[in-house]
Amino acid sequence: MKIFVLGDKVLRSQCEEVAVFDDNLKFFEDKMFDTLENADGIGLAAPQVGKLIRLFVVLIPSQNIKKTFVNPIITDYSKDTSPYNEGCLSIPGLEHEVIRPNSVTVYAQDINGKPFHLTADGLFARVIQHEYDHLNGKLYIDHLDDEEKKKMISSFKRNFKSQNNKKKKNSNV
Ligand code: CO
Repeated sequence: MKIFVLGDKVLRSQCEEVAVFDDNLKFFEDKMFDTLENADGIGLAAPQVGKLIRLFVVLIPSQNIKKTFVNPIITDYSKDTSPYNEGCLSIPGLEHEVIRPNSVTVYAQDINGKPFHLTADGLFARVIQHEYDHLNGKLYIDHLDDEEKKKMISSFKRNFKSQNNKKKKNSNV
């Protein structure tokens, strides 16, 4: 599936609750994991592929984590926080330090609609918070101060333009 990038309205939209847990949803989940693996990422939220539903997937092979969260709600955030360099498949080529709580408790449903909850810390907690933001139209750059955010947006635009120009040149050869 195509991953939408910064500047597209779909990344700034509020996502709808999932009400129907059927084969279509399972098919979509499969495609989410394929897209995530192909992009070499560790988390992907539905709006990033243009679907405005409250679903995200996390894939951290080094920790044996492969998990789908449907209609998630984060109920608890730890008081202790850490900085970490975050990137986003929708803002390719850039990363920036973001401060977030170290651990979170999340209630969600699995792909069959079965409720579960878990408490995550470290990288897993980081990814959950990042993907959860996506469901509310929020990106990690929104956690930065205004000046840093502006810098990120303009360097993204610069990178993205030059990448597209390179592609055009190559396809001319
Ligand atoms: Co992201």
